Amino acid sequence: MNEREEDLVISIGGSILLPEDHDVSGLTSLAEMLQKNIDEKTFYLVVGGGNIARKYIEWGRDLDADEATLDELGIETSKLNARLLIIALGKRCYPVPANDFDEAISAGNHYSIVVMGGTHPGHTTDAVAAMLAERLGSKRLINATSVDGVYTSDPNKDDDAEKIEKLSYDELIEIVSKGEREAGPNVVFDPLAARIIKRADIQTSIVDGKDLDSFEDAIQDNLSEGSKIGP
Ligand code: UTP
Repeated sequence: MNEREEDLVISIGGSILLPEDHDVSGLTSLAEMLQKNIDEKTFYLVVGGGNIARKYIEWGRDLDADEATLDELGIETSKLNARLLIIALGKRCYPVPANDFDEAISAGNHYSIVVMGGTHPGHTTDAVAAMLAERLGSKRLINATSVDGVYTSDPNKDDDAEKIEKLSYDELIEIVSKGEREAGPNVVFDPLAARIIKRADIQTSIVDGKDLDSFEDAIQDNLSEGSKIGP
């Protein structure tokens, strides 16, 4: 049985994971920071598809694929990204992306780190992370993404957008539900994931995954920058 202190699920956006050109140093630093913080924890890392998924989805859409088929492209890409993170993490990590929750949970009984990607069409890897956290009975979840928190509106489009440091599950649901519901959206947190963290009461921190200091603070349950969602 798993006798570790805490199971911690982290949704890692593909956009923060993928190296630029030939420089994998960001991925190496991320892997080192995660390894340093394992302590008595088991990390379950759910990896997103990032720009590569968006490109495949765009190409598939140009070829007139249906939305569920486009979702499958996103799922396969997230698993490819999961493999890259597994390589960077080395031998304390379960050696393949877990295909489903049962595999992830049993792998977590033997390894300190388990990585997985997407599972089924119709949601993003944030929802996978929220469901896995619910299955594990986790009290908290981290979403390490490409923005540094939840904003009142899209900060890339609206100059008046303001960061919200603390918000309730219902406030988050209201903000993210304005996003699109088709393959490859890029909202700060998946609306389905927002509903799952509410029903399971999983307090969630949203942090800029490229800012490793903030990310580390969030792992240590000491959020410095970012947004915290709770009851
Ligand atoms: P992501 O989880 O990568 O979504 O899934 P994202 O919001 O673009 O996240 P970042 O940029 O990596 O942070 C990409 C797409 O893959 C499909 C969906 O179409 C999703 O939009 N997908 C992913 C699924 O259908 N099911 C899954 O379980 C995961």
